[in-house]
Amino acid sequence: MKVRAVYPGSFDPITNGHIYIAERAAAIFDEVIVSVLINERKNASFSVEERCEMARESLKHVSNIKIDSFNGLLVDYVKQKEAGVIIRGLRAMSDFEYEFQMALMNRQLAPEIETFFIVTDPKYSYVSSSSVREIFHFGGTVRDVVPSVVFEKLTSRR
Ligand code: PNS
Repeated sequence: MKVRAVYPGSFDPITNGHIYIAERAAAIFDEVIVSVLINERKNASFSVEERCEMARESLKHVSNIKIDSFNGLLVDYVKQKEAGVIIRGLRAMSDFEYEFQMALMNRQLAPEIETFFIVTDPKYSYVSSSSVREIFHFGGTVRDVVPSVVFEKLTSRR
């Protein structure tokens, strides 16, 4: 039986840390859907189309990864996609509390869906979308921590 997994997130923007997790998930599961949250409060830096396009471009080398977007409850989306697994990346213990709570909440909502944690490479342990946005905003370089399509997109906004 083929196992499909969903890797959800804001991906605002996608970073090399996300790419690392998506690649490792794709090596384990038959199909991985990287799915971008459509933020209803409209406070994202990039539109959902831009976030999907950056993810699509930076993961096009992995044949069993698809890019999609979702809104509403994650577990409803996972069921709709007939996936059995939610992928989440862990960078540090500080991520764990939030992730553990989310995994338990999702289990309460849909016990048949498994949350699968993948630990990051230590070289990405400090990388987050929010720090990328902030460093770039204040003129720092983020070239080494984001895919080139994201770096170009950021630079085009200057
Ligand atoms: O990249 P992020 O922002 O850490 O991802 C968080 C995300 C998108 C996985 C989470 O906010 C989510 O699943 N949102 C959808 C709404 C939902 O199902 N919330 C209940 C989770 S406990």
